[in-house]
Amino acid sequence: MQTQAWVPLFPEQASTFAWQVDALYFYLIAISVAFSIPIIAAIFFFGMKYREREKYAIPDEIHGSMVLETVWSIIPFVISMTIFIGGALVYFNQYTPPQDAMEIYIVGKQWMWKAQHETGQREINELHVPVGRKIKLTMTTEDVLHDFFIPAFRTKADVVPGRYTYLWFEATKPGKYHLFCAEYCGLNHSGMGGWIYVMEQRDFDNWLSGNVSGQTPVEMGKDLFTNKLGCASCHAGGPQQRGAKLEGLFGNQVKLVGGATVTADEQYIRNSILNPASQVVEGYQPIMPTFKGQVTEEQLNGLVAYIKSLNPNAAGSTSSPGAPAANTASQTAPNSMTGNKADRGKQNAPGSNPNAPANK
Ligand code: CUA
Repeated sequence: MQTQAWVPLFPEQASTFAWQVDALYFYLIAISVAFSIPIIAAIFFFGMKYREREKYAIPDEIHGSMVLETVWSIIPFVISMTIFIGGALVYFNQYTPPQDAMEIYIVGKQWMWKAQHETGQREINELHVPVGRKIKLTMTTEDVLHDFFIPAFRTKADVVPGRYTYLWFEATKPGKYHLFCAEYCGLNHSGMGGWIYVMEQRDFDNWLSGNVSGQTPVEMGKDLFTNKLGCASCHAGGPQQRGAKLEGLFGNQVKLVGGATVTADEQYIRNSILNPASQVVEGYQPIMPTFKGQVTEEQLNGLVAYIKSLNPNAAGSTSSPGAPAANTASQTAPNSMTGNKADRGKQNAPGSNPNAPANK
C-alpha cells in the first residue's frame, strides 16, 4: 500500500524509472542551492565592502579578464550539458515504449478513465496490472484533452482528441497508487481520477479470470470489420476486392497516391478509417466512405487491434522485414511524410460538451 514518510514530500517510488526522475530533480535542486547560497553571500559581502564611504567617489576602471570570462562560460556550459543529457536520457527511456510490453487501451472521457485489456476485461477509473512487467498504454480521448498521470510511477502523458499517445511503465512493487487527470478538462476535472492496482502475477491472473472478459479488442474489431461495418466486403481478398489488402500491413511502409510513403501504424489505420480520402494507397481508387461519427473510440481501438493482429510478425509498430510480400510496402523509401496533419486539424474540435474548455 501507499506508505508515506513522516513528511509526505514525495509520492512513493513504484516504477523502474521513478528513481531516475527523482535523481534528476534532486540534482537540479542541488545546483540551484549551490548557486543561490554564494550569490546571496556575495550580495551581502559586497554590500558591506563597497558601501558608500564618501560622496561622489570615482572607482578604478576595470578592463576585463580573459581568465574570469572563460571560467564563467565553461563551468555553466558543462553544468547545463549535464542537465540536458540527464534529462534527454530519462525522457527517451520514458517515451519509447518497449516492443515486448503488455498492451492496454485507455480512453479518456469527461470525467472518467476507461481501460480495456488485451483479454477483453474492461475497467473504469481503475487499472489492474501485474508487478515487474512492462505495460504499454495506447491512449486517446472521446472529447477534450486530458492527461493520464501516475505520480508514484513518475510518468504522465496527454491524451489528445483525434490521435493516439503512448505511455509505458514497469511497476516495481505491489500496491494501490493514485491515478490523476493532470490537465484541466472542465467542471469535474478534479474528480477525474482513480487507482492503479499493482498485483503479483498470480493475483493478477486470478483477477483477470474473475472478471467478465467479453470481446477482446481483436474480436470486437473482427466483428465490426466482417459484420457490423462491412469493411470485409471490399478489404477481404477475392474478386470483390476493391480496397487495399490488410494482411501483413501493420508496421510496414505504404506507398500512397502522389508518391508519399507512410508507416502503417495505429495513427495511420485510424486516419484511414476516419479520413480515407486523405491517404489513398497507390493503385486504389478513393472510393472508401468515411466512418467518422459511426465508430466510438473503443471500436476504433478494436479495429486497430484487429488490423494489427493481421500481421503476426509485427511487434509494436516497427517494420518487420519478414512480413508477407503481398502488401504494397516499399521498404527502401524514407518515411518523409506522415500525412496525418489533416486528420489532427479536423479532429481537434471536440465542442460536443458545453463544459469543455478550449484545449490548453
Ligand atoms: Cu480530464 Cu482533467
